Amino acid sequence: MTLASPQKIHHALLKARNKKPGRGIKQRMVRCAALALEKCIESRLIRKVRNTLRTEDKVLRKYDAMAGSYIDDYNILLTSGNEILTVYDGVFDIVPYNELSEKYFSYISKNILEPLEPQKKCTIEIGAGELTTSIAFAQRVKFSEISALELSWSRIAAGRQFAESKQVDFTHLLAGTALDLPLSDNSFDIVITSHCLEQIPMHVHKVLSELYRVSREYIVLLEPSYELGDSYQKMCMKRKHFVRGLDKIIRERGYRLERHELLPYCWSFKNRTALYLIKKEVSGSRRPIVDKLACPLCKESLFKPDHQFYFCKSCGILYPVVGGIPCLNPANGILATKYEQFSS
Ligand SMILES: C[S@@+](CC[C@H](N)C(=O)[O-])C[C@H]1O[C@@H](n2cnc3c(N)ncnc32)[C@H](O)[C@@H]1O
Ligand SMILES: [Zn+2]
Repeated sequence: MTLASPQKIHHALLKARNKKPGRGIKQRMVRCAALALEKCIESRLIRKVRNTLRTEDKVLRKYDAMAGSYIDDYNILLTSGNEILTVYDGVFDIVPYNELSEKYFSYISKNILEPLEPQKKCTIEIGAGELTTSIAFAQRVKFSEISALELSWSRIAAGRQFAESKQVDFTHLLAGTALDLPLSDNSFDIVITSHCLEQIPMHVHKVLSELYRVSREYIVLLEPSYELGDSYQKMCMKRKHFVRGLDKIIRERGYRLERHELLPYCWSFKNRTALYLIKKEVSGSRRPIVDKLACPLCKESLFKPDHQFYFCKSCGILYPVVGGIPCLNPANGILATKYEQFSS
């Protein structure tokens, strides 16, 4: 069933929001105060303050607490025949979740990932949540190898179980932060994010430079686009304080933005996914980097004295391995400069 066009829906929403004020002086004053408040909330200064309050710790707490929920949604929504109001084939429509899921992941696999020759490329998703996105790609695309890194230990641990149930093999599953990636320079041919940058608007420059550093050829950002969004998406992104002008930021950093387009399918029409495809040229050896893991602080190779830790000899910091998952966030590091001398 095809619904009214996006324009019509947005028009209705905007109309409701901009209802004409009453004639009375009191109603006019209330309306003026509301407008002033809205302007104030959207001002640069307030945005900065809000972004400062959205600390990494808060993001971690929020996502760690919801570990397992994406997998539950996957199991319930994709098998129950539930429907969703979404953008499908570029138009507003109500469709069953499983149909949307198939189209969304197949579209990205065929039109974005396949042309990058993934069978020859090692790939990593950063901010991979419970691996529902990485697994969906791995089921459709043959990567030479696939890995994932996520801020929350609980989420990546939940994802590991899910991957096992789907018989998808990951080379590395890491807990860490996109702000200080525990990965060597140029270590992954393709680096992917999916709705991760949107969560860290306050650190967008730092994260972009880390994604660029560890990538050897492509960075595939599947993130909402303010620039390509319609008025309703713009309003929602403003309210959530998501990154705006990502295309400009990417270009200003001197990166080559090869593709920037809205996808014809999305999970939420308030937050439509767009593609930002960045191409990186690396001169020198094309040999794969064997030592992919690195100290998140100094980026030197890590030494593995036993199954419980990784050790950075330059910083004298130990990083724990919890339940088989290396925790390579600087916040997890234990200063132990004399570890080698006294550990046995
Ligand atoms: C909206 S979810 C998307 C998860 C996954 N990419 C997907 O497509 O299902 C955003 C994820 O980014 C992760 N994240 C947020 N800040 C991060 C950071 N600094 N480093 C790594 N991951 C981060 C969150 O923990 C969360 O799992
Ligand atoms: Zn180090």
